[in-house]
Amino acid sequence: MAKIMGTDAQAISAAADALSRGELVAIPTETVYGLAADATNGEAVARIFEAKGRPHFNPLICHVASIAMAERYAEIDSLSRRLIEQFWPGPLTLVLPLRAGTAIHPLVAAGLDTIALRMPRGVAGAIIAALDRPLAAPSANTSGRISGTSAEAVADDLGTRIALILDAGPSEVGLESTIVRVEGETVSLLRPGGLAAEEIEAALGRKLVRLDQRAAIQAPGMLTSHYAPAAAVRLNARELRDGEALLAFGPERAAGAEKAAATLNLSPGGDLREAAANLFGFMKQLDRLGGASIAVEPIPFTGLGEAINDRLTRAAAPRGLAVDELERTR
Ligand code: TXA
Ligand code: MG
Repeated sequence: MAKIMGTDAQAISAAADALSRGELVAIPTETVYGLAADATNGEAVARIFEAKGRPHFNPLICHVASIAMAERYAEIDSLSRRLIEQFWPGPLTLVLPLRAGTAIHPLVAAGLDTIALRMPRGVAGAIIAALDRPLAAPSANTSGRISGTSAEAVADDLGTRIALILDAGPSEVGLESTIVRVEGETVSLLRPGGLAAEEIEAALGRKLVRLDQRAAIQAPGMLTSHYAPAAAVRLNARELRDGEALLAFGPERAAGAEKAAATLNLSPGGDLREAAANLFGFMKQLDRLGGASIAVEPIPFTGLGEAINDRLTRAAAPRGLAVDELERTR
């Protein structure tokens, strides 16, 4: 089983040592826990896919400790730089042109000529600085499962496959980072996430281009059912069916809520930030209770609601189908 340490100096140096030997370490970030490997070590990066049991080599996000470090690996245009200066460290990832001949292993970007970079808040920065190498880190969970937002969740899911987990308590944001790409004057939202699109739009004074789902699937790794729990998920539930567990939101309950096998409320007061932080943990808890199906009350699409609904839509999709396959079967 994985060893669990805190985030003191001893833990940071143990993590940096393990990473420099090519081992995997689960590290806390403000979004979700990451399954980290030295991004310059191809075998270590391959181990990420092995440990996650990912069906494809999706491009991974690369984590840096400073803007100077980002500049070693990517070309940063002026709009991207504005976003970096405003939101780093924080839950924003930028897809940028990869500099030729850098030390980042090609498996990290799945052979693309771009690289997704972000600077996380918290202890991850200290580990990256100690290692002086970027870390490739997808969310710390088995492929297709709920992202790990606590050390216990990570240990449950991946504990037999990794050596070390650093525990910083529950993730502050609870959703993966927002992914944005600047191409000329166009700024595209590739993945809604923990930084609300409206905040980015306000910073830039322009609208983000939201890719339709068909375009999104062209970013590898955007499988519809990527965020699926074992139970079936039914969205926009206004009344409960027999045997369902209930993922509630806000002060008003779906009809028949009293007969739910179990109920957890993402935010009784209707706060989307609180709901985002609770989302993966609550889905996992309801899933663990073993019900066949989870009914989810309607959640507004404003602010972080966009990312929450995106995750829930993926969780509700038929398993193993990509978006274009879904469209064909409709
Ligand atoms: O919050 C997060 O972002 C977490 C924590 C651990 O930092 N990390 C995370 O990483 O979610 P990962 O590797 O699971 O995210 C991969 C996403 C995929 O949707 C992938 O398609 C996209 O990033 N991506 C990575 N590189 C890309 C690239 N060069 N172009 C377009 N999309 C890319
Ligand atoms: Mg993930």
